[in-house]
Amino acid sequence: MPDSIRVADIAQYEGQEVTVKGWVYNRTHKGKLVFLLVRDGSGFVQCVAFKDDIEESMFDQLIRLPQESSVVITGSVRADKRAPGVPGGYEIGVKQVEILQEAGQEYPMSLKEHGVDFALDNRHLWIRMPSQWAILRIRATVMSAVREWLDTNGFIAMDTPILTPVAAEGTTTLFETEYFDEGKAYLAQTGQLYNEANIFAFGKVYCFGPTFRAEKSKTRRHLTEFWMVEPEIAFCDLDQLMEIEEQMITHIIQRVLKDRSAELKSLERDTEKLQKIKPPFPRISYDEAVKTLADIREKEMDREKKELLDFEWGMDFGAPHETELMAHYDQPLFIYGYPTEVKAFYMEPWPDRPEVSKSVDLLAPEGYGEICGGSERISDPDLLLKRIHEHDLPVEAFKWYLELRQFGSVTHSGFGMGVERVVAWICGIEHIREAIPFPRTIKRVYP
Ligand code: 4AD
Ligand code: MG
Repeated sequence: MPDSIRVADIAQYEGQEVTVKGWVYNRTHKGKLVFLLVRDGSGFVQCVAFKDDIEESMFDQLIRLPQESSVVITGSVRADKRAPGVPGGYEIGVKQVEILQEAGQEYPMSLKEHGVDFALDNRHLWIRMPSQWAILRIRATVMSAVREWLDTNGFIAMDTPILTPVAAEGTTTLFETEYFDEGKAYLAQTGQLYNEANIFAFGKVYCFGPTFRAEKSKTRRHLTEFWMVEPEIAFCDLDQLMEIEEQMITHIIQRVLKDRSAELKSLERDTEKLQKIKPPFPRISYDEAVKTLADIREKEMDREKKELLDFEWGMDFGAPHETELMAHYDQPLFIYGYPTEVKAFYMEPWPDRPEVSKSVDLLAPEGYGEICGGSERISDPDLLLKRIHEHDLPVEAFKWYLELRQFGSVTHSGFGMGVERVVAWICGIEHIREAIPFPRTIKRVYP
């Protein structure tokens, strides 16, 4: 027997005496019984102290033990279907309690309802609560599943720089900083351009790191600091890219369903919807999506809603458009062939239709919107130079990027997946700020 067990493994110890090290999440008292809901980081377990089984002075202490006190509890594990907790279904009949620290009385995150701002100000404590704990454990599994899939499918992990000399995804969302005598440097909006160099050395690569956007958008889908995984593949066109995306997304979902079912259950997530996700995902063109929206608008009677859905070819979809388009899909949906105008400078144009780009966004079902954005990249050096001029980008800084097209240029593609958006979708939560341990938004850098 180890000196202590993990609550997550409790089922293996039915009928045995175990020790759990953790914190008191909740306490109730009824006659000769004290119920402690104890969390140890791996789970939550109910521990029942019966007055006749432990020392009287200890029982009196337990009756008053404040939430968040740190404890070492020894007792015997018994199955009980009604026992609360994660994974739940087992409780510990307490024999011994060592109180490591009795927590202060004024715990800010006591077990009543809190407003969102209060909860966010107390994020350092909020993460102890079951819902936040479950979301962040799922996040860790999503990140692990991403790496697992890419690493076993021939991709090489390449860390791209965070301090960069130029914009890649538009100049309006840059965080800038002084960089010694070199002028300004910017926090990376993407690692893509460097990955385009990396593929010519390694074939298939990915970067996976924090990404920074000084987004003015105050929506439930935007953070100023988020995590993005960006696979990039040589000798890969738009169709092949979509196949890679749907395989990777499906693998992520499968891993979470397998390894985090207790957490999903504690979040009351309808997992049947996730179980259904499997390739191939439906694919429609931007043109078709525009037509579908026009049809929906045509039939819409509500004037306000009709206005909200106003749309013309050439615009980018907003959240209301995406939600409306997704209403008929229970699988993620690929929309490909966006107008060149609304997309980044590096995207390959559609053959014989330069106003359209070989781009593709992947939208999640249930109103979660865009989770992946990607494209085929321009492989012709002259066209790329032309685009850099058109977008008013500093040619000098792109010298190396242009050279990639001079020495063995090939068709290549890649995409970026936002971790928090995927986690929000999988967990079924409203806002992506709960899908990262310490969220950064325009209004928040604390704690
Ligand atoms: O569509 P985006 O901007 O694409 C790129 O950055 C490409 N360079 C990726 C590539 O092809 N290598 O961002 C990709 C994804 C989005 O689909 C979204 O999931 C997420 O990153 N994302 C954000 N997530 C949270 N907050 C924000 N402000 C985000 N902006 C993008
Ligand atoms: Mg995008």
